[in-house]
Amino acid sequence: MSVIQLPTYDILVDELPVILNRFISGLEPSQTFILVDENTVVSCLPRLTEVLDIEFHVISIKSGEQHKSIETCLEVWTQLSERGCDRHSLMINLGGGVVTDLGGFVASTYMRGISFINVPTTLLAQVDASIGGKTGVDLHRLKNHIGLFGDPALVWIETRFLESLDNRQRRSGYAEVIKHALVGSEPLWRYIIERPMELTAELVSRAIMVKKQIVEEDPHEQGIRKILNFGHTVGHALESFYMEDDHPLLHGEAVAHGMLAESWLSHRTGRIAEEIYDEVAELVRRLYPVRSIIKSDYSTLLMYMSKDKKNIKGNLSFSLLTGIGHCEPAVVLTDQEAEAALAIL
Ligand code: GLY
Repeated sequence: MSVIQLPTYDILVDELPVILNRFISGLEPSQTFILVDENTVVSCLPRLTEVLDIEFHVISIKSGEQHKSIETCLEVWTQLSERGCDRHSLMINLGGGVVTDLGGFVASTYMRGISFINVPTTLLAQVDASIGGKTGVDLHRLKNHIGLFGDPALVWIETRFLESLDNRQRRSGYAEVIKHALVGSEPLWRYIIERPMELTAELVSRAIMVKKQIVEEDPHEQGIRKILNFGHTVGHALESFYMEDDHPLLHGEAVAHGMLAESWLSHRTGRIAEEIYDEVAELVRRLYPVRSIIKSDYSTLLMYMSKDKKNIKGNLSFSLLTGIGHCEPAVVLTDQEAEAALAIL
């Protein structure tokens, strides 16, 4: 059990349900709406129903990144409006990163903003998406292109939800744990090397602590927070590229590919020694089936990278490792360097 405090809200890990109920009654919501998707309505809502001692309405959306869209927001805003949601209502986002990102965005924009609580149910959402205030949706295939910063009132984490995840989902989330270790915590990296894929409450709390320290310093990503995008320049391009494919990549799988490519760039540009790159590459290749990219796809991937939010004056921008637990934000590289990194996959 742990309480991790950010300036405007707490993240509670495996705390007693009475605390959640007390927190909600303190908000005195006029109504409570729980946003779920096709998976969490079955696998997680019964648990929440069991612990909550308030009345609530359920709004369900389709699962999957392809539904993280403004059209889905429109459906949710419409349902909120039809059911009389007002400014004093509360929204509880129960799900993975799509539900917490989209739900946070819907709540932050409905009537200029209503309170919301994130109850992340995947590893990825528990250690990353549900904390730090980034909310939003994709624009066609462009990841998180529409959105705003909006803090939840509370993040309520139950690590028991991780038991409902399949292996692929666990590995996907684990990529963000690896990322947090690589950019901000050498001790967490050692923990991972010693206990790969061991999903414990301690691991979740330690990964969150890395993110907490970074977002506290730079909540709106003016500088240092960009290091949390390590692996994401290449990762987001791959995720967009495969989005409509018969075999889409999960977000964390794409980030794992991205970390491989961007660790190589970190080495290639003289920021890390070859042994460090080898150590990262060994772990990533052991945990994730890495897809090779054919040359004829490079131009499409570069097109996606060119639309990345992090780019600076039209130039590709990367966050590159300078050691285990250290990362340099906003490194501008050429298209040729980016292509060379795709070639190592
Ligand atoms: N997921 C990266 C961030 O929250 O900044």
